[in-house]
Amino acid sequence: MKVIEIEGAKELNGTIRISGAKNATVALIPAAILTDEEATICNVPEITDTDALCDILKQLNVNVNRSTESLVINPKDMKNIEIEEKYSKKLRASYYFMGALLGKYKKAVMYFPGGCSIGARPIDLHLKGFEALGAKVTNEGNRYTVEAEELHGANIYLDIASVGATINIMLAAVKANGKTVIDNAAKEPEIVNVATFLNMMGAKITGAGTSTIKIEGVEHLHKCFHEVIPDRIEAGTYIIIAALCGHNLKIDNVIPEHIDSLLSKLEEMGIEMEVGADYVIVFDGKKELHPTNIKTAVYPGFPTDLQQPFTVLLTKAKGRSKVEETIWENRFMHIAYLNKLGANITVKNRTATIDGPSELKGTEVVATDLRAGAAMVAAGLVAEGKTTIADAEHILRGYEQIVEKLKAVGAKITIKEI
Ligand code: EPZ
Repeated sequence: MKVIEIEGAKELNGTIRISGAKNATVALIPAAILTDEEATICNVPEITDTDALCDILKQLNVNVNRSTESLVINPKDMKNIEIEEKYSKKLRASYYFMGALLGKYKKAVMYFPGGCSIGARPIDLHLKGFEALGAKVTNEGNRYTVEAEELHGANIYLDIASVGATINIMLAAVKANGKTVIDNAAKEPEIVNVATFLNMMGAKITGAGTSTIKIEGVEHLHKCFHEVIPDRIEAGTYIIIAALCGHNLKIDNVIPEHIDSLLSKLEEMGIEMEVGADYVIVFDGKKELHPTNIKTAVYPGFPTDLQQPFTVLLTKAKGRSKVEETIWENRFMHIAYLNKLGANITVKNRTATIDGPSELKGTEVVATDLRAGAAMVAAGLVAEGKTTIADAEHILRGYEQIVEKLKAVGAKITIKEI
């Protein structure tokens, strides 16, 4: 098990550079198999979710070449074999191989994906989308077979604007015969990044980033070069950390419009910032903060993935704040640990009520999932004394070099294997 230790209450100053977006990368890697030629993806973050997907590529006999920040994927000798459970359960995004393999070979066999325990996480919308395109879905326990004689375009309405279902249906539809329309599609920037990649390979996708995506099927996809967008959730996490304990801390390589909802909330709380074309500087993270309420929502609403770190900031606001989680039913696992650190938070149904301000004091906590782990790091950095975060491997799934990045701006943080 990996453990992070933080000696908190140190002022952070300098620049933190944001890496490529995890949730775009994890779709781009499976998408790359849709061609038989080489795809080069740069700005790929070094996180364990990237490693897990590269392991799946290798299992499928795909040639993978990793250099600093870029990944060259060549599937010319690829074999469409079953993806074993030990690979699929390592992360949620293994499910993108279902859409990509179906799109390429008209057949995918794999086990149910894993990922953070933040809710039930069904994939019914993905499977319904595949069926609408002409595939037959069968399962024996966790083993799913998705197969089609021919994939044809279809009109698909998503009951929920699901990120995963939108991308997976796009992957399956790019080489289908005819036109597919996805209505009530998710609009997250990662979806636009994946659609751009597919279009650079020769796909014909329009409307990504709006709620109606149109895909005109093509026969052939070719080699391409593509760049991953900066990670808006990593950026948001460090901006929250800067608001907690930064002094002139610059978060660089950010697309500010991707985090508008967060920046508005920070302004409302009284955080003074400079928002540039591709950076955010937080001037002083130690002011008295105003309370606020957030309700998580699909993009461009307040992202569920920032809800947990943001709760830490709310413990510093004077008065009562509320956090309503509408996407995942089990994303309050960090609350018990924040209370252990000295916060005053109660949870009823899907709403957390935070009464602040609270002085946090270091203690032993657990990273129950990726973003809960990020919340523990944020809390540990602002708390007096030593915070020990167990199960820190969850954090490394989504934050490239988090320990090194924080150390470089003055944090006393270490990671060790026990
Ligand atoms: C993506 O998950 C992200 N993961 C999540 O990031 C993020 O929290 C989530 O989108 C919402 O923004 C990746 O991109 C790999 P959804 P995804 O399908 O695609 C329900 C992180 O910390 N639903 O948009 O799995 C579902 O239960 C994470 O980086 C169905 O009911 O999320 C949820 O309530 C974790 N049936 C809602 O839709 C389905 O078939 C939104 O889920 C699919 C989803």
